Amino acid sequence: MSNQLDKVKELIELRQKARLGGGEKRIESQHTKGKYTARERIDMLLDHGSFEEFDMFVEHRSYNFGMEKNRFLGDGVVTGYGTIEGRLVYIYAQDFTVSGGSLSEMHAQKICKVMDQAMKMGAPVIGINDSGGARIQEGVNALAGYSEIFQRNILASGVIPQISGIFGPCAGGAVYSPALTDFILMTQGTSYMFLTGPKVVKTVTGEDVTQEQLGGASVHTTKSGVAHFSAQTEEDGMKLIRKLLSYIPQNNVEEAPLVITDDPIDRLEDSLNDIIPDSPNKPYDMYEVIGATVDNGEFLEVHADYAKNIIVGFARFNGVSVGVVANQPKFLAGVLDINASRKAARFVRFCDAFNIPLVTFVDVPGFLPGTGQEYGGVITHGAKLLYAYGEATVPKITVTLRKSYGGAHIVMSCKQLRGDINYAWPTAEIAVMGADGAVEVLYNKEIAAEKDPEKQRAVIEEKKKEYNDLFTNPYVAARYGYIDDVIEPRNTRFRIIRALQQLQTKKLENPAKKHDNLPL
Ligand code: HXC
Repeated sequence: MSNQLDKVKELIELRQKARLGGGEKRIESQHTKGKYTARERIDMLLDHGSFEEFDMFVEHRSYNFGMEKNRFLGDGVVTGYGTIEGRLVYIYAQDFTVSGGSLSEMHAQKICKVMDQAMKMGAPVIGINDSGGARIQEGVNALAGYSEIFQRNILASGVIPQISGIFGPCAGGAVYSPALTDFILMTQGTSYMFLTGPKVVKTVTGEDVTQEQLGGASVHTTKSGVAHFSAQTEEDGMKLIRKLLSYIPQNNVEEAPLVITDDPIDRLEDSLNDIIPDSPNKPYDMYEVIGATVDNGEFLEVHADYAKNIIVGFARFNGVSVGVVANQPKFLAGVLDINASRKAARFVRFCDAFNIPLVTFVDVPGFLPGTGQEYGGVITHGAKLLYAYGEATVPKITVTLRKSYGGAHIVMSCKQLRGDINYAWPTAEIAVMGADGAVEVLYNKEIAAEKDPEKQRAVIEEKKKEYNDLFTNPYVAARYGYIDDVIEPRNTRFRIIRALQQLQTKKLENPAKKHDNLPL
């Protein structure tokens, strides 16, 4: 055999060795836990055969605690690039079979390399996390590695989409890389995220808690809102990430891909003419409105199980990707509160950063009152959503279906927050507050003066009617141009598509500044 053939053989053997990560036994152990390996995950996520790997031969440079002998090609993370639906993406997947996927100096450098490359090319980065955290044997070099990654997450924010899949442990300060990215997906039962684990919790607070209770997928998708999506299986998780990317552009100077649809532009949805209940206190399901108007009823919901009083997610109108924000009357009457404000604000800001138009469906009775909300800082959190809509320069279309009262009316993409097209259904009630509250404030003395309870009720009813006749309709706002048109509900899809077409060439810039000072 020639010298060259020997060298090629050696390369092939080295590659095979690298592909085995921590070895067959550890791969088996990973499978026993119901988890895939880093390479299997990459294969599942990317278009078949598109993956090109970087830094397969990287090794750590540590000699402490017997690490000299504990060496594996690739050093616990598989990195590179490939395509999803033909579009370039950069990826890293931590390999738990090598030192528990723990992050060393060189492991971090590999991640930084794909992040730098992604920034140069203007393509998304997907990180698959499955790691015991900072490699303990490397001490401050591991911490420095994390810091390098965090710094890149920060600079890439709003420039390229960053998506984190949590497919195993992600603990300690390591959680801050995913937290700095745009979307976090967790797998049910096999992933967890927390700053301090159950043992430390027990020591410090005395609380007994399992990993799952502390930071499992259901905790972060329902209680904390840290994660945006959860998936039953890793396969489902990968499909979800692929779908999510289909709604998103490659970077902040591109637009999301147009997806040709056979759903007619002028499809009338008669059911919408009859969806609003006669009683203003009766709910209806906002998902039905979204489903009836968007292309083929397809809606990718973000944060589906968190702050259900507001709905956010991606859909398309005539193939154009949009961010949908909608109050949900079926949950807490669609009221705005701290969590709903935070959830929607973050989503609105993502859409604005990545040139995705916003379509807002409004049915909001106001902000949730009470000490719980006030002590929790609802003023600041509500201001986030107000700020997010006000600063957004993407096309903004608002459709008011029913209630739109007071501060919540303003926050939900009103005309004066530079709403481009503000429509209302004939059932819209745009006012400072609902009739009950208004009558109580305005006619307090008259009502109190009437001692007979029956007569008192009659006065209240009369005043409420007067208020409703005058204010609870869309025409007062339309009279002043705050509403551009009152539309027939069944025609909503067509009107939104027309508006999006009109707004295609929208140009609007905010004043130059170093950065804003969003109320955090
Ligand atoms: C070095 C680690 C490691 C780590 C795991 N391993 N975590 N090696 N540094 N951080 C190694 C284990 O020694 C073991 O090696 C192999 O990975 C698999 O780990 P197991 O414990 O056998 O696996 P499992 O039972 O599944 O438990 C997984 C685990 C546990 C829960 C993640 O390993 C664990 O608690 N690790 C430590 C977590 C931690 O406290 N990390 C530091 C967080 S602080 P062998 O060779 O024996 O198979 C942090 C700071 C970041 O990360 C700061 C950023 C700013």
